[in-house]
Amino acid sequence: MQENLSKIKMKEEQRTQDSTKDIFIPKTPKDFKEDDAFNYLQNIEIEINNGIFSKKELLLLENALYGKFLDKSRRSFFLYHHLPLWVDSIRTLFKYNAHPKIIELGCGTGTSSLLFAMLGAQSIGIELDANLIGICNKRKRFYERQLENLNVEFYQANTFDFHFEDHAPVDAYFSHFAFNLMKPADTLIALLTSSLRVGGKIVIIDGNQSNIYAHLIPSRRRPGVFTPSMMRKEFNRLGYRVVELKTHCAIPPIAFNSMLTRKFSLMAEEIIRFLGLQRFFSVSYTIVAEKS
Ligand SMILES: C[S@@+](CC[C@H](N)C(=O)[O-])C[C@H]1O[C@@H](n2cnc3c(N)ncnc32)[C@H](O)[C@@H]1O
Repeated sequence: MQENLSKIKMKEEQRTQDSTKDIFIPKTPKDFKEDDAFNYLQNIEIEINNGIFSKKELLLLENALYGKFLDKSRRSFFLYHHLPLWVDSIRTLFKYNAHPKIIELGCGTGTSSLLFAMLGAQSIGIELDANLIGICNKRKRFYERQLENLNVEFYQANTFDFHFEDHAPVDAYFSHFAFNLMKPADTLIALLTSSLRVGGKIVIIDGNQSNIYAHLIPSRRRPGVFTPSMMRKEFNRLGYRVVELKTHCAIPPIAFNSMLTRKFSLMAEEIIRFLGLQRFFSVSYTIVAEKS
């Protein structure tokens, strides 16, 4: 535990010193590590310093998921929680194919879709919010100045109306903390199925609606949102094989507010894991379902 904590502290110091580094373009999914994900995320600051965003867009970025990265007081929890999720997803998405066609559902500011394209995917991001799509396209043009072949396209659309079949066969659908907003989930999964190739995967990373925090804190409950086990059932019902269902990070963001609470929380997380209670506390989960 002590070792764990000092490793996190060391990384944070390193990561603060590194903040003036040049733009980082990860080129291969092979051995993609948390540090690669961090270096890539840090590009956002360089993009901002290059003045590619308007004031309105900067506000949108602050309110988007990566606001939690840009805000230094929330950054360490964001990194602790999210970096392993990207590493795991990349391992899954690129496992059998160096150039998969991946469609991201609810791509927000395009961070994952752009990353997948840099790593060699044929990447498509779908996002409901036109202003966020504006940001995605600015970011795309920014990276195209550094990279010749960036295969990424962004569409402003509601996933329920998108013509997925125009992009068939799709190797993988990916969603990062957005699927819970697309209800009913089973209708959307059914809409994805015909364009997904046999053996193709749906990878969903989302908040865990069945954790103890959602039970205790009413404001954390999201009516109509599937819990991880409900998602598993739905996928099975729709003829998919669930190849992975994993819960992550058993401590809430507030636990990272001070070094002391962080130390105790990391200790508590180890105990929770040791007792096999991770799924009751985890703030998020990943489900990977394969089309049979
Ligand atoms: C919490 S954000 C996550 C964004 C992104 N995945 C990321 O990691 O930054 C959820 C996004 O899903 C988008 N969204 C919600 N419902 C949608 C729908 N039906 N179709 C397309 N996008 C949707 C929202 O506009 C929002 O940008």
